[in-house]
Amino acid sequence: MNTPLPHSPAADRNKGPILDGLQRLLPVGAQVLEIASGTGQHAEHCLAASRRGGWGWVWQPSEATAAGLPPLQARLADLPGARTPVLLDVRQPDWPRPGAGHAAGWNAVFAANLLHISPWACTGALMRGAAQALRPGGCLVVYGPFLVEGQATAPSNQAFDIDLRARDAAWGLRHLSDVQAEAQTAGLLFEAMHDMPAHNRLLVFRRPAG
Ligand SMILES: C[S@@+](CC[C@H](N)C(=O)[O-])C[C@H]1O[C@@H](n2cnc3c(N)ncnc32)[C@H](O)[C@@H]1O
Repeated sequence: MNTPLPHSPAADRNKGPILDGLQRLLPVGAQVLEIASGTGQHAEHCLAASRRGGWGWVWQPSEATAAGLPPLQARLADLPGARTPVLLDVRQPDWPRPGAGHAAGWNAVFAANLLHISPWACTGALMRGAAQALRPGGCLVVYGPFLVEGQATAPSNQAFDIDLRARDAAWGLRHLSDVQAEAQTAGLLFEAMHDMPAHNRLLVFRRPAG
């Protein structure tokens, strides 16, 4: 009997709205680097939509631990546009590049539900890594819960923040203004914040085109 793949109910709930957000941002033939792919449900959902829509997206999944790669590979193996998952901790200096013909870099770097479940240093590392790995004009798309104007966006998010910090003192919801400051220091422009279901946000940063 095959071992069931890891599955995230939250990813099932938010993959549709995330795809809608990405679809508005990404061109046909987009080269996408996903950070912290987790179960691979976002990659699977986006690539299935790309296949149906004829968008030709190419998706590079990644995870921070070697143990995370085989389940990703198993989930995505048969999907057109899926590249072999790679080991990537946002804090490492050398990030993967897109393949031949795309030397300018990725069209998009995408990270969902990473910044509150990793040490604060990962936020700056994500911004610096994306600023280097994106092609000029490419975008960094970050999904998750944030503190906006110093406040949790809902009581449930405040409780989530307390729970995260109890589990690991280095975790916790990030202030939007702190995230924006890290992006600006890395040379990325804050472009938009979209409200998402369950009081989450989709943040869009862009590497200047020029
Ligand atoms: C809550 S899960 C989110 C998974 C997936 N993105 C999703 O939204 O369903 C957090 C993920 O962050 C990854 N992660 C934690 N620290 C990381 C780091 N330093 N670099 C890259 N990924 C990291 C974990 O391995 C885990 O897959």
